[in-house]
Amino acid sequence: MPATDIALPVGRIPRVGLGTWQLRGSAARTAAEAALQVGYRHIDTATMYQNEAEIGAALTASGLARDEVFLTTKIPAERISDARRVLEDSLSALGVDTVDLWLAHWPPPDIVGAWQAMRKLRDEGLARAIGVSNFDPAQIDELITATGEAPALNQIRWSPSDFDSSRLEHSRSRGVVLEGYSAFKSGALTSPAVVDIARSLDRTPAQVVLRWHIEHDVVVIPKSSKPERLASNFDVFDFGLSADQVARIDALAR
Ligand SMILES: NC(=O)c1ccc[n+]([C@@H]2O[C@H](COP(=O)([O-])OP(=O)(O)OC[C@H]3O[C@@H](n4cnc5c(N)ncnc54)[C@H](OP(=O)(O)O)[C@@H]3O)[C@@H](O)[C@H]2O)c1
Repeated sequence: MPATDIALPVGRIPRVGLGTWQLRGSAARTAAEAALQVGYRHIDTATMYQNEAEIGAALTASGLARDEVFLTTKIPAERISDARRVLEDSLSALGVDTVDLWLAHWPPPDIVGAWQAMRKLRDEGLARAIGVSNFDPAQIDELITATGEAPALNQIRWSPSDFDSSRLEHSRSRGVVLEGYSAFKSGALTSPAVVDIARSLDRTPAQVVLRWHIEHDVVVIPKSSKPERLASNFDVFDFGLSADQVARIDALAR
């Protein structure tokens, strides 16, 4: 069985985190509290989600120590010229001194300039690790060529229908952890192959899709507002998929 987390240049990222896009106000706080109660130790937010204060409140209410929970937030591309203020506002809303991972939410026009600005703030300690989101392989390589430093992680849309072995290989060869979002939004939960595998393992289709991410070393951040789904989405560490089952799901790529 793979470990429940993956190494980053600094620290380790839990393989399953809570996605929080579209969770606002008390719904965000309630979901984050419920997730922390059932064992999640990784929460994904963003300046754009406008729920950092609620995530911070949930963290405080949990009673967990700061270093027990991995926090990711993201800067909107068009605010990169104001990076310091954006990150300081995130830290203040979250009620923490540093985030574990800070991502460029999508590529800004000057990706190298943005990367330099993020590296500087990371070096000052405002973020432990930095990375990107929605970058393509050529953009990752451009950052490496220009600065000698690869992003710790790239967060991209990833589900069975997005499966792309060359993308996985590119990330692996550059030492960039791949993190997938919108795992459930591609129709995989109703795909006959996933439903069939789930039935054979006495698991839910969602658990099979999440486990498929784990088998490929892709970090995954499912979002749910429902306590029972939050719990079952995290209950994916005591079973595995066979190589044949993984291959059947890989084959769902469009
Ligand atoms: N970097 C980016 O550009 C980017 C873009 C999109 C998302 N993200 C991040 O990735 C996270 C996840 O992506 P996402 O929110 O787009 O989609 P997702 O997690 O794939 O899917 C969420 C949807 O699936 C439902 N769901 C959750 N668990 C389920 C289960 N066990 N069975 C059936 N349905 C289930 C949820 O409904 P209920 O809430 O009703 O359970 C919700 O409608 C986001 O929350 C955000 O943190 C990042």
